[in-house]
Amino acid sequence: GQTLHLPTNGALNIVLVLVASCLLFLLACRKKKFKNLPPGPTPLPFIGNMHQVDVKELIKSLRELSGTYGPMYTFHLGSRPCVVLSGYKVLKEALIDKAEEFSGRGDFPAVQMWSNGNGIVYGTGERWRSLRRFAISTLKNFGMGKRSLEERIKEEAQFLMAEFRKTQGKPFDPTFFLSCAGSNIICTLVFGDRFEYTDKKFLTLLDLINSNWKLMSSTWGQLLFTFPKIMRHVPGPHRLIYKNYLKLAEFVRERIEMNRETLDSNHMRDFIDCFLIKLQQEKNNPDSHFSEETMSKTTVNLFFAGTETVSSTLRYGLRILLRHPEVEEKLHEEIDRVIGPNRSPCMEDRSRMPYTDAVLHEIQRYADIVPMGVPHTVTRDIEFRGYTLPKVPFDPTQFKNPNSFDPTHFLDENGRFRKNDALMAFSAGKRVCLGESLAIMELFIFLTSILQSFNLKPLMDPKDIDITPESSGLGNIPRPYQFCLLPR
Ligand code: HEM
Repeated sequence: GQTLHLPTNGALNIVLVLVASCLLFLLACRKKKFKNLPPGPTPLPFIGNMHQVDVKELIKSLRELSGTYGPMYTFHLGSRPCVVLSGYKVLKEALIDKAEEFSGRGDFPAVQMWSNGNGIVYGTGERWRSLRRFAISTLKNFGMGKRSLEERIKEEAQFLMAEFRKTQGKPFDPTFFLSCAGSNIICTLVFGDRFEYTDKKFLTLLDLINSNWKLMSSTWGQLLFTFPKIMRHVPGPHRLIYKNYLKLAEFVRERIEMNRETLDSNHMRDFIDCFLIKLQQEKNNPDSHFSEETMSKTTVNLFFAGTETVSSTLRYGLRILLRHPEVEEKLHEEIDRVIGPNRSPCMEDRSRMPYTDAVLHEIQRYADIVPMGVPHTVTRDIEFRGYTLPKVPFDPTQFKNPNSFDPTHFLDENGRFRKNDALMAFSAGKRVCLGESLAIMELFIFLTSILQSFNLKPLMDPKDIDITPESSGLGNIPRPYQFCLLPR
């Protein structure tokens, strides 16, 4: 098809400042600088295309626009032009076929003030590349994706079951139980230890993470994303995002100091120890990307990304199962048949549990907890397409029943598990989620452990349970709920 000339983010940012004042200039600039951007809805001065979308449901509106403008179009987020890519084909073409070029991280105003381009999630360039490489190899050394970590997850699942049993079949909100369980796995890797489910400080941190994830996905968060320069000065809950990050960083700083005092290079306990050693090794290298600053940001990144994602997937998943008792029933049947009541579920079981596997994939597709991905940019002027990446696991060309929860999306006629590359819950390419293998283990072991031990009991008629998200922005936030767990 048509080739497009996309300038790098640097060029885009220059234009950004100028277009804020006047549309004609925008058009002039677009003509000159962005003359080959894909077509899209006509923007207004300053607000861009925001009058054409529902801020509360940005992702839904963006999807609808792709019905009119196709899988790739230009959308003005306030005064910033963004190219929206949606659908499996174009995403694959960008993230996989042009992986290097599309590995840049887009502007993310909500976190910019805190991250300052340091760390992994919001970093770019050589700094991002070295920190990412270092994190992956260090986490692998501590067992990520291996048997040793699987044992840790199984152990944590037993702690979780013990906490659940304490609810004695009474209604409760599972949010913090699930956050504790998920977080404890990344904590083991990063801080060398797990925390008790009653540890006040730990619960405060989980609350900070949970609140920030919600804030970044709220209308306030969207407004900050769209009008960063103004919203930074407007009072409102969105300003807590920065403050909460500072509090998380303060906790991480304390942990780093604890590690520093007891550091022993012959016995590395965790990610922080390894980073401290790396700092020592690189202290005479003026170009090093390893500094106190990047250590703090990278650690917060891992702690945050490793906590909220897994726990909100499980929280959303349980709600979906409350809505679909017939699916829960089949899961119990498969768990009882393959694992039985007397031993813990393990990863080896998965290949013999196609139904469970399909349900987990369908939960990830339907819950779609990072609905727009995290914004990307191109790393150099490139003859191609776009900027922001709303990944679209609702692509109707890839799933027969895209708007319903339907595990058969991942099953063939004979009930065998069927992979579908169009599900990109962890994104793809050079920026692919670095915790993917860890997350998959956690989701499988936690969910099967829960259903091995308990029946889920909703507090209302399943048909009345609304499984659409409460809000949707960076994340899809499931509606808050209570339910009961009855021992089997
Ligand atoms: C169900 C669980 C999870 C989901 C759905 C998920 C999803 C994602 C997505 C969509 C991205 C953005 C990729 C992109 O920019 O294209 C991402 C990035 C990332 N994830 Fe995850 N994630 C999960 C669990 C985890 C865990 C357990 C960790 C902890 C190790 C983790 C660490 C990260 C990091 C560090 C990045 C940034 C990568 C980069 O920018 O280079 N994630 N994740």
